[in-house]
Amino acid sequence: MPTLTTTVDGLNLPNPFVIGSGPPGTNLNVISKAFQEGWGAVIAKTVSLDASKVVNVSPRYGKLHASDGKEVIGWENIELISDRPFKLWEEEFKKCKDLHPKGVLIASIMEEYRKDAWIEIVERCQATGVDGFELNFSCPHGLPERKMGAAMGENPEIVNEVVAWVMSAAKIPVWAKMTPNITHIEEPGRGALKAGANGLSAINTIRCVMGVNLDTLRPEPCVDGYTTPGGYSSRAIKPVALRMVMECAQLIRREFPGRSLSAIGGVESGNDAAEFILLGADTVQVCTGVMKFGYEHIKPMCEQLLAFMAKHKFETPADFKGKSLDYFTTHADLVRRQAGRKSAQKSAAASKAVRSDAEWSGSDFVKQSDSLAH
Ligand SMILES: Cc1cc2nc3c(=O)[nH]c(=O)nc-3n(C[C@H](O)[C@H](O)[C@H](O)COP(=O)(O)O)c2cc1C
Repeated sequence: MPTLTTTVDGLNLPNPFVIGSGPPGTNLNVISKAFQEGWGAVIAKTVSLDASKVVNVSPRYGKLHASDGKEVIGWENIELISDRPFKLWEEEFKKCKDLHPKGVLIASIMEEYRKDAWIEIVERCQATGVDGFELNFSCPHGLPERKMGAAMGENPEIVNEVVAWVMSAAKIPVWAKMTPNITHIEEPGRGALKAGANGLSAINTIRCVMGVNLDTLRPEPCVDGYTTPGGYSSRAIKPVALRMVMECAQLIRREFPGRSLSAIGGVESGNDAAEFILLGADTVQVCTGVMKFGYEHIKPMCEQLLAFMAKHKFETPADFKGKSLDYFTTHADLVRRQAGRKSAQKSAAASKAVRSDAEWSGSDFVKQSDSLAH
């Protein structure tokens, strides 16, 4: 019988599904609900020492629907980090560990670019009994205006320096959460791992504009007539997340073997999780998926992941972690491999796939496009 039980950085999780930082971990009530429903771990909503500076707006979400007008495939948010006082969080972290001693509770923290502030937040959270830290170097809106979040995460030297401050005080595992709003995610990733972070989390939301209302001509989500670019999440971002998780996994495999990786971005099913684990993830986080389907969604996700494992005779998530990583190569290598495969050339000719750009014609354009798709 396969098992989903997994150990990451010394933390024992009943399954690799982790609540990603955001509304699903925004207070003790909802965190308790997550543990009751059987989530593997919870990353609480990001906290900072001075919540009085955090002022949210409404509306702060925007949804992108599929052509059926119902299914939500993309989600923008312009939500900030937690607006609840840090003292309250300290109490709730403590209570949470009393109520759920076996539940793995990870504090997501963010501070200004000051060593004393980072050390203080680490020491005070740690004193509550939380099991680990995730460092939010990645919020793409609002906080960068205060040089926090993604403003730090896009600078590998600053990431390196701040992680070193955190590691000087932390006695529990530390994951650094990466921004996708950068060309090479490996660079801040390397900065964090060089400074001693136990692992990386990737990705946070992708900077976006959800749309423009064609009646009012105002961009959305619209607050008193105006908007600001926000963070894109949900199913639509999964392909970008898979690519960036793969790049982080390659970095870890090459330069930092043994460090962990927590994948995030559009996960809604056990099969989504299997894909991220195949690309090197130890755990898989879900944020918008919980907002769409509720905490109970953990059950079908676990069942589907177990069914995938049974089909391939994998006993544990570690058995297939990174198994698909070996199959990334250069485009030049793909051309070489294809040239060596006569049968593939024959079947391409038989399927009437376009073989050179001169063959494209205006009338069959859609069919020809299809002929080249997987
Ligand atoms: C409404 C909302 C609020 C979020 N707040 C936080 C936050 O406080 N800290 C953080 O690190 N990430 C935050 N995130 C980002 C998520 O943790 C996650 O990285 C991102 O949404 C991609 O995963 P998903 O597609 O499963 O939502 C937030 C996401 C959403 C949708």
